[in-house]
Amino acid sequence: MRLTSMLESTPMLILGVESSCDETGIALYDSRDGLLAHALHSQVAMHAEYGGVVPELASRDHIRRAAPLLREVLARSGRDLAAVDAIAYTRGPGLAGALLVGSAFAEALALALDKPTVPVHHLEGHLLSPLLSATPPEFPFVALLVSGGHTQLMRVTGVGEYELLGESLDDAAGEAFDKSAKLLGLPYPGGALLSKLAESGKAGVYELPRPMLHSGDLDFSFSGLKTAVLTLVRAQTEPLPETFKADAARAFQEAIVDVLAGKSLKALKATGLKQLVVAGGVGANRQLRARLNDEARRKGFRVFYPELEFCTDNGAMIALAGCLRLQAGDAAKTAGAFSVQPRWPLTDISRGVT
Ligand code: KG4
Ligand code: ZN
Repeated sequence: MRLTSMLESTPMLILGVESSCDETGIALYDSRDGLLAHALHSQVAMHAEYGGVVPELASRDHIRRAAPLLREVLARSGRDLAAVDAIAYTRGPGLAGALLVGSAFAEALALALDKPTVPVHHLEGHLLSPLLSATPPEFPFVALLVSGGHTQLMRVTGVGEYELLGESLDDAAGEAFDKSAKLLGLPYPGGALLSKLAESGKAGVYELPRPMLHSGDLDFSFSGLKTAVLTLVRAQTEPLPETFKADAARAFQEAIVDVLAGKSLKALKATGLKQLVVAGGVGANRQLRARLNDEARRKGFRVFYPELEFCTDNGAMIALAGCLRLQAGDAAKTAGAFSVQPRWPLTDISRGVT
């Protein structure tokens, strides 16, 4: 079914709650009017001190932020909580404690309001997030999902119809960005900082491998790339010279962008589809976007990205995914009992296709 016709059926107001990692996101999505308001609190500054996410601190902070963010979203949207038809929240995958906070918050709220809930798969949220934009893709499309925890190529035929085409056998793309950034002395989470540094780096100073680019399948492997950065770093004397850091960042980014773009093109060719959707935090990467835009122009396909603010974790994509699930005929759940699913393959929620 076309997205536009799905959204024309019964109007619904969905509250979205995201708390799978280090961002608390709340949003209100109206199936007729679109996204009404969303609010986000990022814990990055809190975790930076420790060089990575501290799960217990993340859970405690989600507890502190959820209610004030909800009040902010309601005030900005001008809607009343009583008008909400269902509450969608991230059930997994993610950090168990962090997921429990968002799930408990959403289920308790739904119980108090006597409304149903929609437990959502976090990656489905990312996958569908480009549908929040003014010019959304139509089904079917190929999705390149590149986040801190996942790197996957999927064929998306409709809501809930996801076929895994390939995935990373080890580190995720975002993880490779973050680990390489750390090796170059950048603070956590280094992905975006490495990308910025790469802009001042010189091309061709270092040549890094393009792992599995010609493997003949659609899988990825990034741990060797990170090791290659480590080898470059070890050949330097501390403190690392600024020009070295920038040139190494450039070499790393060029290698990873080559692989991500190369495999995406192969996935389009293998499926015969003409639309590519890029979702997840690494989808914010400027060089990846420039490269894919260029390939799209030359090879005649279209490429779609979520708005920059919806590339990383947020409540809007969870509200949207929940709404689309209901519109597609999935039953909402009675509020109350719940369980989270910290490990949860996306293909588990696919209707019949694997
Ligand atoms: O999707 P996301 O917010 O969280 C997960 O579900 O994992 O993705 C976060 C990841 C981090 O690894 C972060 O370093 C990376 O996305 N990231 C970037 C950029 N912005 C965020 N990586 C490369 N370039 C960027 N501009
Ligand atoms: Zn995410």
